[in-house]
Amino acid sequence: MKNIVWENLSFGYTKTNHNVRCYYKDGKWGEIEVSSSENIPIHIAATCLHYGQEAFEGLKVFTGKDGKIRTFRWQENHKRMVNSAQGIMMPEIPADIFWEACKKVVELNKEFVPPYGTGASFYLRPLIIGTGPQIGVRPANEYLFLLFGTPVGPYFKEGFKPVNIQIVRDSDRAAPLGMGTYKVGGNYAASLVAGDKVHKNGYAAALYLDAKEKKYIDECGPANFFGIKNNTYITPKSSSILPSITNKSLITLAEDMGLKVERRQVPVEELPSFEECGACGTAAVISPIGSIVDGEKEYVYSKDGNAGPISIKLYEKLVGTQNGDVEDIHNWVSIIE
Ligand code: PLP
Ligand code: COI
Repeated sequence: MKNIVWENLSFGYTKTNHNVRCYYKDGKWGEIEVSSSENIPIHIAATCLHYGQEAFEGLKVFTGKDGKIRTFRWQENHKRMVNSAQGIMMPEIPADIFWEACKKVVELNKEFVPPYGTGASFYLRPLIIGTGPQIGVRPANEYLFLLFGTPVGPYFKEGFKPVNIQIVRDSDRAAPLGMGTYKVGGNYAASLVAGDKVHKNGYAAALYLDAKEKKYIDECGPANFFGIKNNTYITPKSSSILPSITNKSLITLAEDMGLKVERRQVPVEELPSFEECGACGTAAVISPIGSIVDGEKEYVYSKDGNAGPISIKLYEKLVGTQNGDVEDIHNWVSIIE
């Protein structure tokens, strides 16, 4: 067992034993290869370095009370990775390679998979990069699919405690007909300046508005946004946000709980009417939003430093399903071993 204090982990990188790689050459994917190196040799003219031909995913692995190791909806991550790859003209990664890679990385790094009850999980990071050289702006003819894992704690240091966030009005993360629905590295590069600014202002994350009209909520840093009022779960519909698997799951769980669900444009003016708000994603899980600041205005959702009752119920159902405490009625969980 490694000398890791699981409870103290933040969302950071810890070196593990092995990662896996699979190369695409001459129009086909090769065999999965295991590596103990944290480095990759790369051509100086690789398209990922110059033209951002890169897509990634993020999914978590959990240990249950029963000791079993579970993944959550990996098929959805695979589907989204295929979609992201298509969006930047990279080859599709077959589902069997994706799943074998997930299993192998878990099996080879078992001592890094946090035990039940620690609040930590094992985060899998698959990526595809264009490795073939091009100097013209064209897709590469060679690719690398890489998957590594690392134990992580909460994305926001507050964990399941409300965070304060700030609306950004002087930059956009993604354009309406751009790349926002794909999980490609360029979107995250595009968010760094705004992210740094809001952090320096003392906020946990940037809340982006739609790029065209600046009227509607888009998403919240590396997470989707939801608001709750009148027994209704409301989440933005937008052509420039990432289709979050966590949000999709919360929609189903909200319906199971008897809430109404609305996926539609959410005008900024609606913010004061919400009873609860949250940011959701694999890394963020549910991060309750304590307040949203927009210039001089502030909308407060938590006065006592705790999440609201519906967010708590959603969180318990989601996390319980992921670690096996709650019955997996939707068949979302795959047991690795
Ligand atoms: N939005 C962005 C920009 C993200 O990076 C993520 C993280 O994956 C999400 C939303 C949440 O998506 P998911 O729930 O699939 O992790
Ligand atoms: C995830 O939630 O898995 C993400 O990919 C967010 C990440 C950018 C930190």
